[in-house]
Amino acid sequence: MKTLNIGMVGYGFMGRTHSNGYSQANHFFDLEYKPVLKAVCARNKDKAQAFADQWGYESVETDWKELLKRDDIDAIDICTPNNLHAEIAIAAAEAGKMVLCEKPLSMDTAEGIKMCEAIEKAGVKNTVWYNYRRVPAVTLAKQLIDEGRLGKIYHYRANFLQDWTISEDVPQGGAATWRLDADAAGSGVTGDLLAHCIDTALWLNGEISDVSAVTETFVKQRTHAETGEKKEVKIDDACAFHCHFKNGSLGLFESTRYARGHKALYTLEINGQNASIRWDLHDLHRLEYFDHGDDSIVRGWRSVHISDGDQPYMGNWWVPGLNIGYEHTFIHQVADFLKSLETGEPCEPTFRTALETQKVCDAVLSSAQERAWKNV
Ligand SMILES: NC(=O)c1ccc[n+]([C@@H]2O[C@H](COP(=O)([O-])OP(=O)(O)OC[C@H]3O[C@@H](n4cnc5c(N)ncnc54)[C@H](O)[C@@H]3O)[C@@H](O)[C@H]2O)c1
Repeated sequence: MKTLNIGMVGYGFMGRTHSNGYSQANHFFDLEYKPVLKAVCARNKDKAQAFADQWGYESVETDWKELLKRDDIDAIDICTPNNLHAEIAIAAAEAGKMVLCEKPLSMDTAEGIKMCEAIEKAGVKNTVWYNYRRVPAVTLAKQLIDEGRLGKIYHYRANFLQDWTISEDVPQGGAATWRLDADAAGSGVTGDLLAHCIDTALWLNGEISDVSAVTETFVKQRTHAETGEKKEVKIDDACAFHCHFKNGSLGLFESTRYARGHKALYTLEINGQNASIRWDLHDLHRLEYFDHGDDSIVRGWRSVHISDGDQPYMGNWWVPGLNIGYEHTFIHQVADFLKSLETGEPCEPTFRTALETQKVCDAVLSSAQERAWKNV
């Protein structure tokens, strides 16, 4: 079996989901390549070693630049806060490594363009971990749309709601709360949560032409975890935007970390001329489907349990009727990446594809700032 030697940078939340993906993919998918957990890189050697022991990495590095110098590493997996994506990805490409980068691709479009140029110049395989494409129910939604079952699409609606930053005591910056620090995150809910909704939307419903957005920062000052200083909060705590898609449909998106009671409620709904689709991350193995072509006396919303072998990815899992969950989306992305090494096809979304989400995020943020419609 051919091997793909992984060097992973960062061992937090995503470090765990990816490591699980690498460990599981070959158990469930027939693939020519097998990932080898060669090295994990983090600044604290003891913590990196503990992670390596727990997940089965062969070695540790404390400086990602050393990781890039190693001949025994084929692919760099970037699981760090957003402000490090570009520097690591560009250097990795220049070192001839494949790059798997967490989302959002970059801090902004300008940085994303440089990343795409570096990756394409080096000609290295790449992908961005917009994993919600690989929830089988969402993949099935794509299939139903591509088959034309919805007909002309009129509306695309998506929400991503959380409630973890309501307390003014939550700090900004540092290990667990870098997402509240604009210097580390780039933006708030727009780049963190709406980026997922936008990636899925572009995939399912095509390009967005223009946007009109509002953002709000509810807590204006927070203590910085690293300096102890009270500093202005520069991220968007909440963002809502509406938009036109190039296919003529209207889009409506909302995200916030102030929706008390919601932890990670990603929902989407698509209304077409003939049928509608609805999906909810809290019930991720179901796809709600309404088909106007059904016999009127039994017409209604169906809740399709996605567990059968002829539904996307499910033939690789257990038996019909049994669910899979969140972690499987990362296993699917690993499997698809390994498959792409066999076929020579790109593993979507590539850097170039993920740049489109970055462009929408930038247009959203500048629309909110200038209180004006913005072209993407
Ligand atoms: N695809 C998804 O659904 C999803 C979900 C969560 C996070 N993310 C993305 O993944 C990335 C990481 O987020 P997370 O939630 O795992 O964060 P996290 O805070 O849990 O982990 C970040 C890791 O980066 C490490 N790190 C920071 N600076 C470093 C450096 N200079 N060198 C080496 N390691 C360094 C930290 O030690 C930590 O291990 C972000 O870009 C985030 O947007 C994606």
